[in-house]
Amino acid sequence: MEIVDFSMLSETQITQAAQMLTDELHDGWPALTNAMKEINELRNGDPDSLLLAAVDQGDVIGWAGLLPGYGKMFELHPLVVRGDRQRKGVGVVPDAYGYGKPDIQMAIRL
Ligand SMILES: CC(C)(COP(=O)(O)OP(=O)(O)OC[C@H]1O[C@@H](n2cnc3c(N)ncnc32)[C@H](O)[C@@H]1OP(=O)(O)O)[C@@H](O)C(=O)NCCC(=O)NCCS
Repeated sequence: MEIVDFSMLSETQITQAAQMLTDELHDGWPALTNAMKEINELRNGDPDSLLLAAVDQGDVIGWAGLLPGYGKMFELHPLVVRGDRQRKGVGVVPDAYGYGKPDIQMAIRL
């Protein structure tokens, strides 16, 4: 598994990310179109925000938005792992350093 910036994802992988949002957080994003809209808004939102995806063998199996606005703190919105890959350590991003934000050198832990 590798952690990559959303800018590295194909359209198919973006759709995988949207699908798991709908599957796992259905109340917030009941349809794929809602999830795609959310992702597009995040991608076109604050340029200091960070969208990271966990990719395994070409498939997106989890992703998180890291949104600034609290000084050195980031809001995680959303945070989702594909249903069949939950509770296996995917939700822990051990080190986000190197994803374009040199001031982010932290462990993201659920
Ligand atoms: C919440 C979620 C992101 C966790 O990801 P994950 O890959 O399943 O979590 P991990 O396996 O990396 O577990 C990380 C830690 O959180 C704990 N944890 C994971 N899911 C948990 C849950 N539902 N309830 C309580 N603890 C949980 C694990 O026990 C682990 O702690 P440990 O290492 O001390 O045992 C994932 O379950 C998910 O996508 N859930 C549905 C969407 C959601 O609720 N998102 C959060 C709100 S936006």
